Amino acid sequence: MQRVFSGVQPTGDIHIGNYLGAMRQFVKLQDDYSCLFCIVDLHALTVPQDPETLRKKSIELAGLYLAIGLDPKKVIIFVQSHVKEHSELAWLLQCMTYFGELNRMTQFKDKSKGKESVSVGLFTYPDLMAADILLYDTNFVPVGNDQKQHLELTRDIAIRFNNRFGDTFVIPEPMIMKTGSRIMSLTEPDKKMSKSSENQYSKINLLDDPSLVKKKIMKAVTDSENVIRYDPENKPGLSNLLTLYSAFTDISIEDAEARFKGQGYGTLKKELVDVIVERLQQIQHNYKNLDLNFINEVLKDGAEKASEIAKTTVNKVKDKMGL
Ligand code: ADP
Ligand code: NA
Repeated sequence: MQRVFSGVQPTGDIHIGNYLGAMRQFVKLQDDYSCLFCIVDLHALTVPQDPETLRKKSIELAGLYLAIGLDPKKVIIFVQSHVKEHSELAWLLQCMTYFGELNRMTQFKDKSKGKESVSVGLFTYPDLMAADILLYDTNFVPVGNDQKQHLELTRDIAIRFNNRFGDTFVIPEPMIMKTGSRIMSLTEPDKKMSKSSENQYSKINLLDDPSLVKKKIMKAVTDSENVIRYDPENKPGLSNLLTLYSAFTDISIEDAEARFKGQGYGTLKKELVDVIVERLQQIQHNYKNLDLNFINEVLKDGAEKASEIAKTTVNKVKDKMGL
């Protein structure tokens, strides 16, 4: 079976952008691929975190993985820091990466812009991500559009390593959804929906209750034309709402556009609230019924299984590099 790996950071609240761009794919892939889904807590350390909150958020994310429908009998769910080979391979890969390559990463530029002190970890983060993927002979990486550049770098490093030391790494490919791979902020639709946004109305979180979802959608920025047309360039807010409707209902953007043609924005917003709330209530119902002991068992079992694969890879890599 071909291998799938992906990770989500246990920071902030998991939002519908994370879900539509990445996590809902995980559920679809679990029957046909050998999957590992990681809670990437080491990535979270690239910016300051409160230790207690980070620990709590890691468990919450594990719970959400289960609540969206991942079956621990079919997939490996684990916490990145429980498998020490991630840090180890990241170092080895840093020594195979050029400063200029990391310096070109747009996410680093965005996240460091205007900040006085930025950790070196934020700069070398793409190497840790490359390690995550390459440790498991990953064929496919389901991610949102914002991770495309990091995945390109992962491929470049893997190819460089293979050329220098002989065939070692599988060259991974991104898996990016046609609809939903870049969900925009509800308040500033020219920016992507992001965990780190300070405006709570900019994003809908998987654990938001129905009244809050309604409030956020009703407040979502559109335009004054009041014509329903998919046009991301000129109508980014309205187009984002159509994208959300299409992604949650699994109908095409064209069909969603046709469905609301000639109607006001209020109708689209109202129906959108319904489809989002319906999905979130399912997820929240599953989430509430989870037992903490069960989550911890899943993570322990996951870390054991992941470690076995990761150790083999690191031993091979060290051997080739002369360690
Ligand atoms: P964030 O970017 O919100 O801090 P992560 O870096 O943990 O979240 O990303 C987890 C996954 O969610 C990644 O695959 C990422 O590409 C995806 N993702 C993040 N934001 C969005 C978005 N606005 N639309 C679609 N996918 C997204
Ligand atoms: Na991201």
